[in-house]
Amino acid sequence: MELCVALDLPSAEENLALAESLKGYDVWMKVGFRAYIRDGKAFIEALKAINPDFKIFLDLKLYDIPNTMADAAEEIAKLGVDMFNIHASAGSVAMKTVMERLSSYDKRPLVLAVTALTSFDEANFQAVYEKSIDEKAEQFAKMSYENGLDGVVCSSFESRAIKNATSDTFLTLCPGIRPFGEDAGDQQRVATLEVANEEGVDYPVVGRPIYKDENPQAKVEQILKVIQSI
Ligand code: C5P
Repeated sequence: MELCVALDLPSAEENLALAESLKGYDVWMKVGFRAYIRDGKAFIEALKAINPDFKIFLDLKLYDIPNTMADAAEEIAKLGVDMFNIHASAGSVAMKTVMERLSSYDKRPLVLAVTALTSFDEANFQAVYEKSIDEKAEQFAKMSYENGLDGVVCSSFESRAIKNATSDTFLTLCPGIRPFGEDAGDQQRVATLEVANEEGVDYPVVGRPIYKDENPQAKVEQILKVIQSI
């Protein structure tokens, strides 16, 4: 498993200070809406200046018409990030168009599709998608696999079934990780690192349990120790 740290703090300075404290560790940096909308391309460049080896996941969850998504995917590839995501519910034409557009890049970013947001509980998910989370997440994952994406964003609890339905090498990135049973916040389907590991999760994403801790660096060290030991 490769730890992905969510940089969701209220200012660029705080996010960069967190990144600076983690520059000696082999971790992914997740740049989401908050940071990218506020701090943009300069923020990505600042992260790379701190550690050129940081792997960067741009979590913008693209969802639009296929051509607009492919245009955005190309701009993201030009930023030099290592991974980004789209919403699976944008559909197979959007997936195909995005992957075709990126095929000319020698070193394209990994592309993942969001299946079910980990903040959904079953009832609220059913109200939107009219299917159970398990069923829909698997269907979205198969669609993503068939259209050449590299993996999906899902909860730890769907990871194993998704790999069984696609391939062991099809990546699962899972938010809602509470490494040591910390407060779930708005997340509904949370898992510990041990559960994530059992479920075959490739990238556990951790935000608040790290950046709200009084010593985020020590917390990351503890997490990496657990990951190495399981
Ligand atoms: O603070 P916490 O560990 O809950 O952070 C989870 C991160 O993962 C947040 O940045 C959130 O936007 C993101 N995310 C998520 N669920 C998804 C996709 C991304 O929680 N399905």
